[in-house]
Amino acid sequence: MTWRFDTRVVHFRQKGLERETPKAPPIYQTSAFAFSDLDELEAYFAGERQYLYTRFRNPNADDFARGVAALEGGEDGVAAASGMAAILAATLAVVKPGERILCPEEVYGGTYHLFTHELARLGIGVDFAPANDVDAFARAFTPETRLVFLETISNPLLRVPPLKELAALARERGAVVVVDNTFATPYLARPLEWGAHLVVHSATKFLAGHSDVTAGVVVGERHLVKRAREIIAAYGCHLNPFEAWLAARGLKTLSVRMARHCENAMRMARWLAARPAVARVYYPGLSEDDGERVRTLLGGRGGALVTFRLREGTDVGAFFRGLSWIKLVPTLAGVETTVAHPASTSHRALPPARRRAVGVTDEVVRLSVGLEDPADICDDLARGLAAAEGQTGAIAQSD
Ligand SMILES: Cc1ncc(COP(=O)(O)O)c(C=O)c1O
Repeated sequence: MTWRFDTRVVHFRQKGLERETPKAPPIYQTSAFAFSDLDELEAYFAGERQYLYTRFRNPNADDFARGVAALEGGEDGVAAASGMAAILAATLAVVKPGERILCPEEVYGGTYHLFTHELARLGIGVDFAPANDVDAFARAFTPETRLVFLETISNPLLRVPPLKELAALARERGAVVVVDNTFATPYLARPLEWGAHLVVHSATKFLAGHSDVTAGVVVGERHLVKRAREIIAAYGCHLNPFEAWLAARGLKTLSVRMARHCENAMRMARWLAARPAVARVYYPGLSEDDGERVRTLLGGRGGALVTFRLREGTDVGAFFRGLSWIKLVPTLAGVETTVAHPASTSHRALPPARRRAVGVTDEVVRLSVGLEDPADICDDLARGLAAAEGQTGAIAQSD
């Protein structure tokens, strides 16, 4: 068969590549999959072939989701375009109009907005309760409560709620438990082991780990993941193959990154606690309130985030300006250390009174500790703290 020019332009392809075994997984950057005949197409609909159309399923997205499911101890997993897409899919997999979600008062601002604005428009209600008070949480159940949504580590004050007790309570009341495990990752905590039905992640954070991917994932019980997959396909919020490939690549170094993140963060928490410009440090690894739960739920490790409250009277804006290389970034979990100002970013969507009630005042700074040499991180934080205190040119020594 000799093709003419315009056909050759479209149909060039190296033959025999299917016999090669690449060491790294190929990127299935395709919107659809080809079939040799109608029998093969029927085999897909009979469940004998997995892939038809990337919005429904793609090998890279599956590779990543199954990797996370294996780490979390879930039966199955599905990837989504973002953490919010994963939360949307997990909640819609469970709740119907007329039913209610119960979640912590300090839930991530994006989740708060999704529940109170978007799901409310679908006739789904939401109630809030303090996650650290099991009795208050129990009182917030209604006969319509169908889903309890929890977070392993709260944002930005990094509290570790009594998750085993809350999950047991929810199960007793016949509710499905979904846990956002973004901040802890399966390296620290595996909520399915304590009674969660589903775990969701903003894989944009530690799972992918390099601040170059926006992705989410839902893992857990097979029948709920199946429903989440249908929702992701219907809403078109699947993860694209390239980002899935990047996320899967990032996942391979989760253990080594998390070990170093935790080690560096503990040093930063101790160092910050000794600075006069800092009124209070919030770090699960140092928390007296949550110490027992950090031991039993997080294996005694505190994670990568350290939040601190600048002393009243310090200049918060000057703190950020005083940093030399640590960037003010409205995210977390990269290999580079970054700082965030929750009151103006992650918790901006909360009404000011609720923001104050959950402790997110203007003085609160959240540090995402990266993989650098800890002495260099201390040196830069010292520049910021000196600026916040109105000292110019003073660079405190790290210790
Ligand atoms: C705890 C938590 N859950 C969910 C999300 C939403 O994730 P994404 O930005 O990937 O949609 C975030 C984002 O910061 C988060 O911090």
